[in-house]
Amino acid sequence: MLALVTTPGRAHTTEVTEVPDAAARPGEVLLRPLCVGVCGTDREISEGLFGVAPDGEERLILGHEVLARVEAGGHGFTRGDIVCATVRRSCRHCLACEEGSPDGCLTGDYLERGITRLHGFAAELVAEAPEHLIRVPAGLGPLAVLAEPASICCRGIRHAEAIAGRQPWARRRTLVLGTGAIGMLGTYLLRLGGYDVWTAGRSPATEERARLAAACGAAYFSVAETSPVDVAAEVGGFDVVLEATGDAQAMIDTMSLLGRNGVACLLGIDGRPRDVCIDGRVLGVDAILQNRALFGSVNAHREDWESAVHALDEARRRWPDAVESFIGLTVGVDAFAKAFAHRGVKATLTFEGL
Ligand code: BGC
Repeated sequence: MLALVTTPGRAHTTEVTEVPDAAARPGEVLLRPLCVGVCGTDREISEGLFGVAPDGEERLILGHEVLARVEAGGHGFTRGDIVCATVRRSCRHCLACEEGSPDGCLTGDYLERGITRLHGFAAELVAEAPEHLIRVPAGLGPLAVLAEPASICCRGIRHAEAIAGRQPWARRRTLVLGTGAIGMLGTYLLRLGGYDVWTAGRSPATEERARLAAACGAAYFSVAETSPVDVAAEVGGFDVVLEATGDAQAMIDTMSLLGRNGVACLLGIDGRPRDVCIDGRVLGVDAILQNRALFGSVNAHREDWESAVHALDEARRRWPDAVESFIGLTVGVDAFAKAFAHRGVKATLTFEGL
């Protein structure tokens, strides 16, 4: 079968090539991927900066955002069912993984499909254990491929609310930094949650991403024109900040955007070795006197996946035109380079008809 394969650690090795056919082992379900989303992590792996091949192998099949059709039924699934699959798998030797929360793995020995020591979903066929499959509401269609990034947002928001909820808090004003898939989905999920949302991006307020953020009722502003610090001062500080820029300086700056009892959640990753700076009084005075908190969040629990598919379905009903245009490019897997170069909210690769 054909698959999108790369050699982790070596840039420019990504290609569509023949690999041995996937077969379902006992207890697994055979799936036919319909489309696979591309994200910053795929680009990093493809540039040789991230990712690990399965033990004893040199190459890794990419793809961790999948929408698939059940090819051979069983284990509660019927041929033709449409599903997504979670990404992270248990390390098998920590409390969090034992309790079904590999998203909070305590050892770091977890595996991730298409990223770390497990092949991904960018192939004509894949096999998966039924406990990692998420059923997709009928009607969500190709948008269900957004369930993976949406699950990352659901986890971040769930944890932010849990942390903020340790004490009385305002639960009103939120700021999303970044307008990639995580930023855009975070904006929509917070709006669905009843929050007032400000979304900040680099694009001028007249461009497509700004239009998309505003379509769900968020107030968009461009950081090229307006400083988030000024907006925070004007509104009286944010109760929740979701950071999705992938810039460590922007991450530490979130501390200065929070109001009393506010919580900032970091979702973007920035692996560049460098120092970032913060006004000592923000950390040494405001963070303490105003009970502010900053935390990072990775991956997602099954519970977040369930929330994600339902929230996507609700968002699609409420803002159909905008949500439909999140996926700005869909190409066959052989044109993967185009998808990797796409700078809209999301690009996807299709497999049907290969
Ligand atoms: C994925 C997560 C994963 C993380 C770290 C992200 O791109 O969405 O599921 O845990 O990379 O590998």
